[in-house]
Amino acid sequence: MKKVITYGTYDLLHEGHINLLRRAKALGDYLIVGVTSDSFDKERGKLNVRNNVLERIEAVKKTGFADEIIIEDYIGQKIDDIQKYNVDIFAIGSDWEGKFDYLNEYCKVVYLPRTEGISSTQLRAESQTILKIGIVGSGRIAPRFLNESQYVSGVHVVSVYNPNVEEATLFATKHKLQAYTDYNAFLKNVDAVYVASPHISHYDYSKQALLAGKHVLCEIPFVLKKQEASDLYEIAKQKNLVILEANKTAFCPAWNHLLVLVKSGMIGDVVDVKASLSKLMPETNLREFNVSEAGGSVTELAPLCLMAIIKLLGKNYVDVKFYSKIKNKVDIFTSGHLIYDSAVASFTLGLGVKTEGNLVVSGTKGYILVPSPWWLTNFFEVRYEDQNKNKKYFYSYDGDGLRYEIQEFASMIFNKRISSFHLYRNESIAITEIIEKFLNKEHTTLLK
Ligand code: CTP
Repeated sequence: MKKVITYGTYDLLHEGHINLLRRAKALGDYLIVGVTSDSFDKERGKLNVRNNVLERIEAVKKTGFADEIIIEDYIGQKIDDIQKYNVDIFAIGSDWEGKFDYLNEYCKVVYLPRTEGISSTQLRAESQTILKIGIVGSGRIAPRFLNESQYVSGVHVVSVYNPNVEEATLFATKHKLQAYTDYNAFLKNVDAVYVASPHISHYDYSKQALLAGKHVLCEIPFVLKKQEASDLYEIAKQKNLVILEANKTAFCPAWNHLLVLVKSGMIGDVVDVKASLSKLMPETNLREFNVSEAGGSVTELAPLCLMAIIKLLGKNYVDVKFYSKIKNKVDIFTSGHLIYDSAVASFTLGLGVKTEGNLVVSGTKGYILVPSPWWLTNFFEVRYEDQNKNKKYFYSYDGDGLRYEIQEFASMIFNKRISSFHLYRNESIAITEIIEKFLNKEHTTLLK
């Protein structure tokens, strides 16, 4: 039996793909089709894919040409697959002419004629209306968002809102945007907003945007009360709008692969998660140290750690405890502990205390160490008692990493998907609930 293998993304499956699969199948008796995983596409900079991996597999299946479909998840997998499946022919479209000659060492390489005049890129461009985004607030993260948005196709930042006319104008002039000091006028000229204003204003700005029919990407901390989070998700659901917590690590490739490995049992049952994050800052009049602006270690830093804990252990914790060091009414250090029925988790946060910012996930078979800065994950190691079994994983984490959340936000809007598996609505609500408990001084012990 002659085995043929071919690979592709197969986004918005089109005639070119069908012709290619037909030709590939005709080269032998058994066709294996490798469909790229979502994280692998992100990893190689393809941030604009419309259909997720399950949809793309389904579309390939429906063509009826594939005898077997596999997922392509890492660089170098082609060589592994060719040997593993005993492949005779590797086939790919002629747009790749010469690029896979190195596989000749393992099997025959055939470049098949590409169908002219059609591609997923073209279909995406044709079907995609540009998403006009306005930034609410012109603080430190706003320029980073602007820069990162340029890497996501179909997204265009057009304006900035800041009630302070000087700040709005300064930012808008520097970045060639439209400046607004009137929120309603600002909302009228955008499809979506990125809320990057002071914490205490997140709820109002997000709610007004939703009520005006605009999608919302809201910075962390999302909001400060569980009820507010539930309200926003409810309004969005009723109005068929997307609202997403911009918890950036949740969307990056390495973190997502770590989760998949843990969920597939690679380190056994997870029994302990430790996540730390500190950002020692000069105590000036920064909002981070201002109690009236909801400053403090928990509001500033907890969302990323809580996201990791909740994604790994779930939202059904049975108890939570906080130990904090307070200065001028804000916590400059907090050690938080979440107790589950069969596991524990802790997070160490500091604005006035420095600590190692790593993440350790301990299980019954081994553990995963994500070194500092774990929240900008591009590397982690799976470690076992038998060190020979240890495995290191490397990924790209491009730029400031905001492009991954922007891509997910845009993809949700384009595909009319109001929920993201990267951070489900009830997970986001659970994060807010824990922060609210802390702000209400529940379960909190103050250190002298
Ligand atoms: N292909 C083809 N003819 C086309 C488009 C794609 O023969 N008009 C082939 C590619 O050469 C590859 C396979 O289909 O062998 C899967 O390609 P993929 O990258 O998924 O499709 P594209 O439409 O080229 O996607 P993009 O525009 O995102 O690069």
